[in-house]
Amino acid sequence: MEDQIRRILSNLSLGELRYFDRIGSTNDEALKWAESGAGDGSLVFANEQTSGRGRMGRSWITPQDTALALSLILRPTQAELDYPSRTTGMLALALVDCLQALGLSPSIKWPNDVLVNGKKLAGILVESRWNGAVMDALVLGIGINVAPASIPPADQLLFPATSIEVELSRPISRVTLLGDLLTRFLAWRPNIDSSDFLQAWENLLAYRGELVKIKTSNGRGELGILVGLDRHGGLRLEDEHGRTVTVEFGDVHLRSAA
Ligand code: BTN
Repeated sequence: MEDQIRRILSNLSLGELRYFDRIGSTNDEALKWAESGAGDGSLVFANEQTSGRGRMGRSWITPQDTALALSLILRPTQAELDYPSRTTGMLALALVDCLQALGLSPSIKWPNDVLVNGKKLAGILVESRWNGAVMDALVLGIGINVAPASIPPADQLLFPATSIEVELSRPISRVTLLGDLLTRFLAWRPNIDSSDFLQAWENLLAYRGELVKIKTSNGRGELGILVGLDRHGGLRLEDEHGRTVTVEFGDVHLRSAA
């Protein structure tokens, strides 16, 4: 698989690749690599993760040969420094583009999940590395369920899950998907500060126009109709008094309140 990935990457303007048959977490490796000087667009890919991490301290399972688990290191541009949360949206949109090309109808469960048929198919974990007050690297980690065996057992799920091959009822090539994902990400990247990008992200939000419940990490809750995004990727809700409430991008749970 490593050779195939190297071949695909040779056609893309990315940095170096670190490929692992098995690793703890690609995000941990990417954060270490960023500290020791990884260039922009460097990529960590693993065929299996033994201690993959999700948001809010959760674990993320990547069984061997079944999924995509990767972390892309960005040396942030000025626009990415201005709008770091939008990088999550760019990666989600890149995956959505790939899934649509495969004939699926995905949506984005704000802030970090990609859904198909209301079930989670991928999760994104973006982490940053700071040098004093300056953000000097962003690590964009994504885990995508490809084969049926990548779906965690039901008793370990907080939200229903699916995989690309389950939804398509046929096998796909993980390497082709990886190349497609990175190509589409690189195409979005120069547009991070455009209103077209924000609009495309907003249009794909799951539960738009529906009543949702948000629980923030400080235990506070918000209930309202999901209206859209603010320019930093925060979620705009309309509360029962018709007022707009913005929930900042961060460690939150979103649930349909229907
Ligand atoms: C979530 O749904 O909470 C986010 C999951 C992110 C998982 C990916 S897999 C590749 C990268 N390495 C990790 O340890 N986590 C991310």
